Amino acid sequence: MLNFLINRSILTQVGFLFLMLFVLWFFGISSLLNRLTQQQLEIQARTVVDNVNTLGQLISGHGGMWVKAGPDFNERYLDKIDAGNGVFFYSKNPARVQKEFSDKGLSNKFPASFRMVSLNPTNPENLAMGFEAKALREMTRDKTNGKNIHSISRHNDSQYEFIEPVIHSENCIACHGDPAKAPESVRNAYGTTNGYNYKAGDLAGAIAVTIDFNKWEMLSTLINAPLVLLLLLPIIAILLFVYLQSKNISSIARRIGSYQRGTPIGVDARAIPDNTRNEVFILIKAAAKMTGIVEGTYAQLNAYIKAAKHSKSQPKTNAVRD
Ligand code: HEC
Repeated sequence: MLNFLINRSILTQVGFLFLMLFVLWFFGISSLLNRLTQQQLEIQARTVVDNVNTLGQLISGHGGMWVKAGPDFNERYLDKIDAGNGVFFYSKNPARVQKEFSDKGLSNKFPASFRMVSLNPTNPENLAMGFEAKALREMTRDKTNGKNIHSISRHNDSQYEFIEPVIHSENCIACHGDPAKAPESVRNAYGTTNGYNYKAGDLAGAIAVTIDFNKWEMLSTLINAPLVLLLLLPIIAILLFVYLQSKNISSIARRIGSYQRGTPIGVDARAIPDNTRNEVFILIKAAAKMTGIVEGTYAQLNAYIKAAKHSKSQPKTNAVRD
């Protein structure tokens, strides 16, 4: 398969190998970077989920959040205290505060925002849509089949969506169980048809986190010039080494190849120590030895020829002598 490479220069052969390496590295590194960014986004999304849950717990711990009625007052309150002079305070349930927290985040256009959603929402504004609904249906299916449910996410180059399931506990059933037993404030504000009839352990809905991100910005914080140098410098050094070595080898090969009887190959092999391990030096020594043998044989042959010529011319005188 690699026959086409055999007659190429060492530099071409090594270059070809590096090209294959680069292709593999490219796919390997880009999949690694993809996973790293995804992991980063998941950590961010989980932090949002934790914050939402912490806020919910904090407010549940106080049975609700009391605020002074202002322009944003609406009928969805738990309790109301009249302080006289037209001033009154009202309390909001945890879900309502989370909803307002979520709306605030969305209107602030922060990169990370969330929604509490359900397929059967108490507040129709919380109806799961698109990917949220798809993920919730998948979770419902898994739950009915007795499988474990876990978060579901998806992303493209600029947006990451993370859907974390929310399970009803005993506390939640006070409002999300039998509508007849739900607090009057909830029934009055939200009606008695949606968001009820759950049991503890049921899938309530999800916290859906959306994070807008810039892939290249994220990558540029991971990859910097020193890192690129660290990865590229050894490769450049290896290619340079191969380039210089192959130039050296080809110049020596050319000298040995153009060797002509009587002219030395132009490399001083005597300067090379006998115990050298450098393959090129060993080759030079071998070539020098061979040319030495050829020169020696040639000299010897010349001597024989001379002697033979001499002895040919001798017989005459010998004959005369004889
Ligand atoms: C005091 C009553 C009350 C309790 C207790 C309560 N919720 Fe709710 N929940 C509500 C109300 C009211 C909404 C609608 C808030 C809004 O968006 O206006 C709601 C909304 C939600 C939503 C968003 C979807 C929807 O139904 O609108 C989820 C999910 C949810 N609750 C889950 C829970 C879980 C889980 C618990 C227990 C940890 C819980 N709730 C406890 C009253 C309650």
